[in-house]
Amino acid sequence: MGIEFRSVRKTYADGRGETVAVDDVSLIVPSHRTVVLLGSSGSGKTTLLRMVNRMVDPTSGAVLIDDEDVRDKDPVRLRRGVGYVMQQAGLLPHVRVIDNIATVPVLNGVARKQAREHAAELMQTVGLDARLANRYPSQLSGGQQQRVGVARALAADPNILLMDEPFGAVDPIVRRELQHELLRLQQELGKTILFVTHDVDEAFLLGDEVVILATGGRVVQRGTPAEILAAPADDFVADFVGVAGGKRELTLRTSGDSTVVVDGSGRVQGVLRAEGGG
Ligand SMILES: Nc1ncnc2c1ncn2[C@@H]1O[C@H](COP(=O)(O)OP(=O)(O)OP(=O)(O)O)[C@@H](O)[C@H]1O
Ligand SMILES: [Mg+2]
Repeated sequence: MGIEFRSVRKTYADGRGETVAVDDVSLIVPSHRTVVLLGSSGSGKTTLLRMVNRMVDPTSGAVLIDDEDVRDKDPVRLRRGVGYVMQQAGLLPHVRVIDNIATVPVLNGVARKQAREHAAELMQTVGLDARLANRYPSQLSGGQQQRVGVARALAADPNILLMDEPFGAVDPIVRRELQHELLRLQQELGKTILFVTHDVDEAFLLGDEVVILATGGRVVQRGTPAEILAAPADDFVADFVGVAGGKRELTLRTSGDSTVVVDGSGRVQGVLRAEGGG
């Protein structure tokens, strides 16, 4: 159950030759878990994400949702059934906040009044003031727009959430707030989340499992945050996660049955969830 990538590969023709965006990736995102794709620009993260809702079809290999090939599903229904939060929130500019959130349910045939009521509840869920309901996206701050994007993705109550650098456009404080909001939501809702970032702290905070990608969509290492921190696969990973040279100096501290990640100045950076829990 969950999402399974089976030896997926994606190449793009680029005149003279071809770009390998994703090179033979196999990966399972278990139900109710968060898997984070972590990698620098151009490492194929967005390409992988978009294979799930068929915005991109793999050149070879297959993506399965609950053991069914996504190619056998109707693409429009698939896209409506899988929540997708884009980097720039992807809101409809000429549509009020409340109706941005209600868009997909209305397309799916829910009555507008009912969809709006649910949208108002979701605004509360993601920490948006009810008074913002009738504004247009351009009248919101970056962080508020990101929250609308998350609420909109949740509106159709999908089992799967695809989140492509959803908190990329906001300042560090709001970003932290949104990250913790998502952790809280995830405890409550238990979605299957595939989350993309190039922010190491964000990946380690949110991911039950983290997959580190190098250029060309090559998987360099995967594991729980604790596993990766404890034993980086190579110099590339060590450098990337900042273990090398004492740059990050993240250490793990265990107390009771929880493990926290502590940075060089003693600040708790995050909590690692217990293995096999949830
Ligand atoms: N439509 C396309 N046509 C040609 N090449 C593409 C296309 N989309 C992506 N690529 C290439 O595939 C590679 C992976 O792109 P992708 O967008 O998946 O990377 P990414 O990891 O999401 O990067 P970023 O962190 O910058 O968003 C890049 O080299 C990119 O130039
Ligand atoms: Mg991308």
